Amino acid sequence: MLTIANVLVVVALAQICFATIKLQEHFEWNILDFDYADENTKIRDLITGKYKPENSLPVGIEIWKDKFFVTVPRWKEGIPSTLNYVQLNSLVKNPSLIPYPDLKSNELGNCKEGLSTVYRIHADKCDRLWVLDTGTYGIAETMQSVCPYAINIFDLKTNTKIRRYEFRPEDTNQNTFIANILVDMEGSCDDAYAYFSDELGYGLIVYSYKQNKSWRFTHSYFMPDPLKGDFNIDGLNFQWGEEGIFGMTLSPKTVAGDRLIYFSPLASHREFVVSNKVLQNSSKVSNSYKDFYPLNERIHGHVTGKIMDEDGIQFMSFIDKNAIGCWNSKYVYDNKNIDIVDKDDVGLIFPCDLKIDKYRNLWVISDRMSNFLVASLNYKEVNFRVYFAPIDVLLKDTVCEKKKYMKLNDHFEPFGGEKFVFQHYGTGNLLF
Ligand SMILES: *[C@@H]1O[C@H](CO)[C@@H](O)[C@H](O)[C@H]1NC(C)=O
Ligand SMILES: *[C@@H]1O[C@H](CO)[C@@H](O)[C@H](O)[C@H]1NC(C)=O
Repeated sequence: MLTIANVLVVVALAQICFATIKLQEHFEWNILDFDYADENTKIRDLITGKYKPENSLPVGIEIWKDKFFVTVPRWKEGIPSTLNYVQLNSLVKNPSLIPYPDLKSNELGNCKEGLSTVYRIHADKCDRLWVLDTGTYGIAETMQSVCPYAINIFDLKTNTKIRRYEFRPEDTNQNTFIANILVDMEGSCDDAYAYFSDELGYGLIVYSYKQNKSWRFTHSYFMPDPLKGDFNIDGLNFQWGEEGIFGMTLSPKTVAGDRLIYFSPLASHREFVVSNKVLQNSSKVSNSYKDFYPLNERIHGHVTGKIMDEDGIQFMSFIDKNAIGCWNSKYVYDNKNIDIVDKDDVGLIFPCDLKIDKYRNLWVISDRMSNFLVASLNYKEVNFRVYFAPIDVLLKDTVCEKKKYMKLNDHFEPFGGEKFVFQHYGTGNLLF
């Protein structure tokens, strides 16, 4: 006989089945709220519609000391601030977003002093925050460019902007849409490069901090796969067939002394790779077709955000699977070497951005972006979640765990491309 107690147990078990096992929830919001220094201004803005909490979607995250950054693109009206943070050790799970460095510096359409729309951001080892302002307001048909694309770099120790660099007109085109950034630093703080993937204009823009200059690569590998534009996420079917180069990761140094940039178009199941020495050489722009290499296709489908740790483990969001995946880049990019580290059909709907903190925790934000854009969100439920887990915990019992490969005769298989194999596997040793 089914007693109430039995029913409760069954319900509890059902809940456990779809919860993340390894990732621990740190923040959760039904709807975002912004911290106004002055409550009267907030009430006035709510009444006038200058502030519309239901229009805010968190997209990018970063961790620096006790600050947890959250970016909110101005896709719709009523977003007070695009670059924000909350206290990492906040006493509540749904803290209000605090504009960074302040509200004034987030003014829409104030090209020199403000920020219009920011997606993903990066805090480097020199305590600088790299922020690309797309200068846009709206999305798709409603998108207007109110300012040029510009890199803004903040000194996190003083909360001041130390550099602003506008992209050259040749760096973008009429389709340009850049939501991703990768920072590559060698030794000194000056010796830094940033790479920006132009998702809809199909380009890769490189910025040299030392030279204060930018240049743009184009390549057919930046384009979407025309057969991979159909998406099914959380019961919604939609087509994002135009989505090109999106997520990028940076490898540790190889035996050849360079680092590898792995990238993948969003409407594609394939991964590609190029050496950072190619991207850093501006005279390669028009003559580097064969320096880019295709790797295999993955069975887990589309990937948006991804990141690589210091051991060359790539973590990526499998948006079709409500899951986070891993690949140990010491081994061929092949399905037998790619695995799922955690999955949750409620909590991980559209994992949007991933970051690694200095304690080797992986952080993930999931935001139901496809529901927000294609349908709508129900603000009576939790919509936005931030999770974290130590990398070693995530890798446990997956094929990405290192010890599984320590068997003597488990010979590794380098990925495709003769010249690439020659350059990076010449010694027959492992990559790093
Ligand atoms: C970098 O270049 C931009 C224009 O291209 C200029 O406005 C800015 O002052 C330069 N910054 C530095 C630090 O040289
Ligand atoms: C940059 O690329 C050009 C053209 O391929 C090459 O001649 C040159 O040696 C490269 N420079 C560096 C620093 O690698």
